[in-house]
Amino acid sequence: MPAMPREFTVLGIETSCDETAAAILRGAPPGPGTILANVVHRQIAAHAPYGGVVPEIAARAHVELLDGVIARALSEAAIAPSDLDGVAATAGPGLIGGVMVGLLSGKALALGLGKPLIAVNHLEAHALTARLVEGTTFPFLLLLISGGHCQLMAAEAVGRYRLYGATIDDAAGEAFDKVAKLLGLPYPGGPEIEVRAKTGNPKRFPFPRPMRGREGMDFSFSGLKTAVRLSVAELTSNGGSLNDTLRADVAASFQAAVVDVLKDRVRVAMQRFRTEFGIKNNVLNFIVAGGVASNQAICGALKQVSGEEGFALTVAPPALCTDNGAMIAWAGIERLALGWSDPLDTAPKARWPLELLDKNT
Ligand code: KG4
Ligand code: ZN
Repeated sequence: MPAMPREFTVLGIETSCDETAAAILRGAPPGPGTILANVVHRQIAAHAPYGGVVPEIAARAHVELLDGVIARALSEAAIAPSDLDGVAATAGPGLIGGVMVGLLSGKALALGLGKPLIAVNHLEAHALTARLVEGTTFPFLLLLISGGHCQLMAAEAVGRYRLYGATIDDAAGEAFDKVAKLLGLPYPGGPEIEVRAKTGNPKRFPFPRPMRGREGMDFSFSGLKTAVRLSVAELTSNGGSLNDTLRADVAASFQAAVVDVLKDRVRVAMQRFRTEFGIKNNVLNFIVAGGVASNQAICGALKQVSGEEGFALTVAPPALCTDNGAMIAWAGIERLALGWSDPLDTAPKARWPLELLDKNT
C-alpha cells in the first residue's frame, strides 16, 4: 500500500486589506484540506463612512484585533500552539501597514514556537484555494476577481504561474464599489449592485465594454466607471436625485457590461490555455476566486462560457472567496510539504506579482 502523504497543521494569518483573519488547517497536497478553525473579523463598519478601505485605519485595527483573532482560532481548533507544524502569514501584496502587522505577528509566533515561518503571497493563496476546497490538480486556469485584483493566469504548480492578463487600471470589485458610491449605495458596493441589478433593465444604458474583442487578455474598468458617472450626472443635472428604478437600471446596465467583458476575456484565456496545456477534447479546470466571484450573474455567465469551451468551472464557497486565513494556512501547507519556508528577516511587500514567486523560492 502506498504511504499516506504526511499531513501538516498550519496557522494562517491574513491582514493585507480590511479583514483581520486567522485559521488553522490540517492536510496534505493536493488537498482537500480540513479547516479546524477559520476566524474572520471584517472591518467593514470602520471603513463604511469613507466608501472604501482607509489603509491607516485598517493597520491600526489589525494591531488591536489580531491577537484575539489568533487566540480564538487556536481555541476553536482545540489545539495547542506546540501542535502546529508552521506559521503562515501574508507577506504581500497588499496595504503595507496591515501586511507588516500580520507578518510580524507570524514571525514572533514562529520564533517563539521554534516552528518554520511561511511568508505567503496573497495572490498565490487565492490561486490555491481550489485545492484546499476540492483537491484540484495542476494545471488550471484561474480568474481572480476581487476589490484589489483582476487577473487571468495559468497555475502550473505551487510557485509557478503564467500571467495571461490583468487590469490596466481598476480591479473589477473596485469598479463595483465606485459605481455603488456614485449611486449612493453603501460600501462594499458589489452585493448592493447585484441586488439592485436583479430588478433593473440591463439594456437601458448602453455602457461601453472596454477591451472586448481586443487582442490579449487584459482588462480595463475605468472607462466604464466614467461612463456611469457621466450618465448619473446627466440624470441628476436638473438637481433631481436618482429613484430606485433608475438606480436598478444603472446597476443592471453596469453589471451587464462587466459580464460581457469578463466572458470575452475568459474565452480568449481558455483558448490560449487549451493550446498551451490541453489535449484536444479534454475537460480542463477553470477556477474563479476573489470577492466578486460571489456574484451570481457573473458566475452564471462564466459557467456558460466554460460549457462552450469545454472547461469545468469551480467557484470556491463565498466564505473562502473573500479574504480569509484558511487560504493562507493552506498555501503554507503546500509550501511546507515541498520543504519550503522563509527566513525571519523576510520583508513585507506592497507589490509582489505572482510571476516573481518562481525566483523567490
Ligand atoms: O476578495 P475580497 O474580499 O477582497 C479583496 O481582496 O479585494 O473582495 C472584495 C470585493 C469588493 O470590491 C466587493 O464589492 C466585491 O468583492 N464583491 C462583489 C460581490 N460581493 C463582493 N462584487 C460583485 N458582486 C458581488 N456579489
Ligand atoms: Zn484577496
